Amino acid sequence: MKSLRVLTGITTSGTPHLGNYVGAIRPSVQASLRSEVQSFYFLADYHALIKVGEPERIQQSTLEIAATWLAAGLDPERVTFYRQSDIPEIPELTWFLTCMAGKGLLNRAHAYKAQLDKNLAAGADPDHDVSAGLFMYPVLMAADILMFKAHQVPVGRDQIQHIEMARDMAASFNHLYGPHLVLPEAAIEEQVATLPGLDGRKMSKSYDNTIALFGPTQTLRKQIASMVTDSRKPGEPKATEGSALFEIYRAFATAEETRALAQAYAHGIAWADAKQMLYERIEREVAPMRESYERLMADPGRIEDILRAGADKARRLSTPFMHELRQAVGLRRLGQSLKPAQAQTGGPKALLPGLKQYREEGKFYFKLVDGQGQLLLQSRAFDSPRAAGELVARLKQGDDSVLLEYAECLEPVSAPQALAQALQALREAAEAGPT
Ligand code: TRP
Repeated sequence: MKSLRVLTGITTSGTPHLGNYVGAIRPSVQASLRSEVQSFYFLADYHALIKVGEPERIQQSTLEIAATWLAAGLDPERVTFYRQSDIPEIPELTWFLTCMAGKGLLNRAHAYKAQLDKNLAAGADPDHDVSAGLFMYPVLMAADILMFKAHQVPVGRDQIQHIEMARDMAASFNHLYGPHLVLPEAAIEEQVATLPGLDGRKMSKSYDNTIALFGPTQTLRKQIASMVTDSRKPGEPKATEGSALFEIYRAFATAEETRALAQAYAHGIAWADAKQMLYERIEREVAPMRESYERLMADPGRIEDILRAGADKARRLSTPFMHELRQAVGLRRLGQSLKPAQAQTGGPKALLPGLKQYREEGKFYFKLVDGQGQLLLQSRAFDSPRAAGELVARLKQGDDSVLLEYAECLEPVSAPQALAQALQALREAAEAGPT
């Protein structure tokens, strides 16, 4: 059973390099293959607007990062893979959280404080180059996380503070409106490598020392040839310690291959030969992915379709959940009772929605219909009645992930209200005991 929800996003502001691949993309694709994990991966394009004012770059980066993730093996059937700006509930939740977040809390956020400190050091106005978007960055990020009830968010150390802030906002919301939001935790991957760049410093766009992940193979060869090494001659033993070349090799190689290179260093391998080994080793892992990357890049329409399908899936959760949150804060239909939940369960039985299990041509299904008999959810086919029955039970117990894994939502976006209400009524009835 997939009980742990893990969510992560990448800001669509640049072209993925080897450091991104080793530090973020490869481990997150590996994590998505764990059977107990339900993963959410998204392209943080609203976040990109905070620092990038070039529309073409945003679009291009979105395409490149999506293609990279897919080429690296992310399976959109298995995970929920979407674009932030396709989920209108995220900016809506951002506003709810904006009203929860203390300004003093946001004053301490790193991204904003870094700019502030820079301004102060330069003797400039403290607000110079600070958009309200930069200031609100952690709130948008909290909405990303809280919308999908993520338990864990794998991030680099620099992002831990943002996860803590998301927890704070969720706790304030829950305190005021009831336990609706799940408090997330940062998942720090200790053993994930930070890759050195061409000059030996951490590989980073801001140092201009990156190696593109999917550049042409000749570029990869040339970039590796240009790596900084010491001046030891062929035949002279070389130190692995502090060798960026060695570190990058290690990030791609098996333990055995790494030991072999260490031996070669000790035996005085020429730098040119070591570079050739590094090039070949990276190429071995990257070349097959580069092929699918190029195929994907040549077909942006296909990526668009994948992201749309991912957004549909994501919205099966976000639309009813946002409806629940709107009810919680008091954004309600005026005709409704002030306590809509109680009014519903107390209402006539005929109006209750129903979860029905049935059999058709040797397969087993379940469906959810509202009080008027309108079909809201239709499951896939199952081989055994037990498989369908277990999901029905989980759905009744409040496990929304069933909506993602096994059900096909009909009209998920046009009837979110009906779906949210039906689920709520169903769960309250389940809590009240068997009927
Ligand atoms: N801030 C993250 C970064 O710059 C990207 C991001 C946006 C994110 N929203 C998120 C990461 C939610 C994890 C969860 O890399």
